[in-house]
Amino acid sequence: MSDTFDVVIIGAGPGGYNCAIRCGQLGLKTAIIEKRKTLGGTCLNVGCIPSKAMLHASEIYAAARTEFADLGVEMSGVKLNLKQMMKQKADAVDGLTQGVAFLMKKNKVTVFSGTGRIDGPGRVVVKGADGEQVLNAKNIVIATGSEPASLPGIEIDEKRIVSSTGALSLEGVPRRLMVIGAGVIGLELGSVWGRLGSEVTVVEYLPRILPGADMEIARQSQRIFTKQGMTFKLSTKVTGIKKGSSGLTVSMKPSDGGAAEEVETDIVLVAIGRRPYTEGLGLESVGITPDKRGVIPNDHMRTSADGVWVIGDVTSGPMLAHKAEDEGAACAELIAGKAGHVDLGKIPGVVYTSPEIAWVGKTEEELKEEGRAYKVGKFPFSANSRARTNHQTDGLVKIIADAETDEILGAHMVGVGVGEMIAEICVAMEFGASSEDIARTSHAHPTMTEAVRQAAMGVEGWTMQM
Ligand code: FAD
Ligand code: NAI
Repeated sequence: MSDTFDVVIIGAGPGGYNCAIRCGQLGLKTAIIEKRKTLGGTCLNVGCIPSKAMLHASEIYAAARTEFADLGVEMSGVKLNLKQMMKQKADAVDGLTQGVAFLMKKNKVTVFSGTGRIDGPGRVVVKGADGEQVLNAKNIVIATGSEPASLPGIEIDEKRIVSSTGALSLEGVPRRLMVIGAGVIGLELGSVWGRLGSEVTVVEYLPRILPGADMEIARQSQRIFTKQGMTFKLSTKVTGIKKGSSGLTVSMKPSDGGAAEEVETDIVLVAIGRRPYTEGLGLESVGITPDKRGVIPNDHMRTSADGVWVIGDVTSGPMLAHKAEDEGAACAELIAGKAGHVDLGKIPGVVYTSPEIAWVGKTEEELKEEGRAYKVGKFPFSANSRARTNHQTDGLVKIIADAETDEILGAHMVGVGVGEMIAEICVAMEFGASSEDIARTSHAHPTMTEAVRQAAMGVEGWTMQM
């Protein structure tokens, strides 16, 4: 049997399913193919959602043990029920993946369960449990996402040497957890298991944590995580892992060539980045060649092949769910002949540790490299009345504006709730706002968001310190 669709989307993650919804809303006959049992991609099944469920629950557990008493809330017998914590995580995932299935129905999108393969221009073959089926497609959207990168010679078994997927489903709290990579996954999942009782050591190749984040914010964050009990081994390269009957021996050496050492641990989490996923996709049948990192290049989501589009983690730009989602919607609009656009320079990044880290736009390091003149305003949460009242004074807000025009070029924050606060700056930047626009906007008192306003005031030097 063969079917003809206006749009066939391969992959039902945030990129694919949001593209499908928008296509449906625009009246395009749309199909989506997914090889996982449930829709929602990495994000809903093994990424954003389960990790945030574990971060939330473990944060409350840690607060109950270490912070409640200071607030006059006395508790005894606080105990971890890991099985229940995993269950509430699974419940969140189930609810949301079923929600996506409902949205496909609501928007009249046909869902095919199986693996999609491009088979020449305008043809996609779906291999499912009942054999193969051919779909004719006026447009094909590649939304196949990404997979964890691995280290040469180190096999991820998802039991003792795990990727983020295994780290989200450990059966017990390891006494010692070694994380390779001080990026977003390493810090988030390292925080989860650290709060639940593991001794966490993070080994990072570079001399800093969170490459890509503003250096000052990364340094402050590292100090905060160190205070929380995480150990960092920076400028260090892991060279091998030996499996013993009970533990693991990790060999490592300084990346600048110093003496090697061996460290014992129980579980290793490999979190050294993700790579685009294009296995068996049939790209050669339409003449698409990924670059040397496996990324499918795009020009406004168009690939080099006519009628073939690409969105999300499998193409260039930050590997983030909201970036994939924005591209999904914009791609549908372009297919429907409308204007669709995503500004990669205004995609926020949030690390959901405690406190959170958030940013949007340029870092100071990037602006220095570009040779662009800028001004900076900063405000520490230790001077914010709400933060002081709540005993949540770690961190700061930093706003960077053009030296001449005062246009906001970037904002970088670490502090409780900054993952929500960054949205204010995203809106401001979309509207081309100046730091003075934020400085003159009323912010409720007492709120943590006053720190954003004070940082903006700081750009012109009129911050009101306590
Ligand atoms: P994916 O979500 O990877 O979806 C692609 C889908 O395509 C998959 O379901 C895959 O099975 C399917 N597929 C692949 N090939 C085929 C084929 N040939 N046929 C059929 N189906 C196929 N981002 C955030 O913004 N915020 C977060 O808090 C966050 N937390 C994360 C936590 C973790 C632990 C991880 C691993 C990632 C996290 N991310 C987060 C990143 C986020 O998950 C990704 O950026 C996002 O899922 C990318 O969406 P996508 O649609 O491009 O791809
Ligand atoms: P990452 O790119 O954030 O960090 C990887 C880290 O590993 C880097 O610091 C890198 O220098 C280091 N590294 C690389 N090779 C190494 C080696 N051999 N030895 C030691 N260190 C090494 O990647 P991560 O954390 O794996 O996350 C993957 C993607 O998932 C990211 O792009 C991120 O955007 C996304 N993600 C987003 C989240 C969020 O938005 N909150 C949460 C989790 C993941």
